[in-house]
Amino acid sequence: MNRLARAGIAARLMTAMVLVVVSAALTAWLVGGAVGPALFHRHMLRAEGSPGTVVEHAERAFASASALTMAVALTASVLTALLASMVLARRIGASLGSMSGAAGEVASGHFDVQLARPRVGAEFDELADAFNAMAARLNADEALRRRLMADVAHELRTPVATITAYLDALEDGVTQLTPETMDVLRAQASRLARLATDLAAVTQAESGALNLHLHAASPIELLQAAALAARARAEGSGVQLVVEADCAAAQVCVDRDRFAQVLGNLVDNAILHTPRGGTITLAASEAGARVRLSVIDTGEGIPAEHLPHVFERFYRVDLARDRVHGGSGIGLAIVRALVQAHGGTVSARSDGLGAGSRFDIELPAA
Ligand SMILES: Nc1ncnc2c1ncn2[C@@H]1O[C@H](COP(=O)(O)OP(=O)(O)OP(=O)(O)O)[C@@H](O)[C@H]1O
Ligand SMILES: [Mg+2]
Repeated sequence: MNRLARAGIAARLMTAMVLVVVSAALTAWLVGGAVGPALFHRHMLRAEGSPGTVVEHAERAFASASALTMAVALTASVLTALLASMVLARRIGASLGSMSGAAGEVASGHFDVQLARPRVGAEFDELADAFNAMAARLNADEALRRRLMADVAHELRTPVATITAYLDALEDGVTQLTPETMDVLRAQASRLARLATDLAAVTQAESGALNLHLHAASPIELLQAAALAARARAEGSGVQLVVEADCAAAQVCVDRDRFAQVLGNLVDNAILHTPRGGTITLAASEAGARVRLSVIDTGEGIPAEHLPHVFERFYRVDLARDRVHGGSGIGLAIVRALVQAHGGTVSARSDGLGAGSRFDIELPAA
């Protein structure tokens, strides 16, 4: 049964042909066996007594027996061919019909269609599977697009509303154009600009359109560069930055600029979420054939229920508090997309509120 379901369209067509040939042969054999001897017998009886016509009667008996056999066998094979063609055409036609119906649904924007396997040959089953995978992918992309549009609109609303309110107040003379007002307007404008840059970055990274310039690099150097870039900000927040490494030999293959962005986003988050007096450790270690780069902080930590979501676009653990930092929740989505573009993985761990957080990047060793 399973073998039959897996058989291809060629095997099915071949089976139909064989069926036609077998039915013709079988009919010929049966009819020949049933009619031939009787015909010969009759002719021989008629030829009795007139020896000159024995040969003539034998020839006539042979001719009519084979003509009859051929005619009946031909009729049987035509009927079998007709039946086999009708069965095959009905089943193929029905499955093509449901496929074109489903394609029409997709064309009109309904991506939640799923085709049943038509079971008229392995090729058709594969086509249905490929179609279902395509529809599922389009459906997921469409859901993502809708969510993204909603999130972007939501993110734009606050700064645009603030800028508009200030402009109205300035126009009505309720507020004066003081340096403080300018600061507020500038902050909102730069928040909009950063949102645009971050969105472009994450979209580019996730679409796989990144042009990575890969070079072998030592993990310690990468961590030291990230620590150097963040030193001033860490000092300003009263947080200590430490680099630890125990994999002197292993190297990784990375685009240095993109990787600086990855580590920069992780260290920025750690600085934002670690109170004064805390420590941020940048560590590198070997894990089998992979190299692990970690950013570990002693800060607020992340509650377990939020951990699976922190890499999603626009996800923030504490909306009100995180927005005060000016973040829009795209930083970790960029991190994940860039790390995946490098063939690596990134994960977050935390023992809960107040217990600090740990982000591990694993890359294949070069
Ligand atoms: N080290 C950390 N400690 C505690 N919470 C963290 C840490 N890193 C990230 N988070 C939580 O994960 C959320 C998502 O982080 P992400 O970097 O994506 O966004 P963001 O920092 O809020 O904004 P953006 O990075 O776009 O400016 C943050 O809002 C924060 O709640
Ligand atoms: Mg961030």
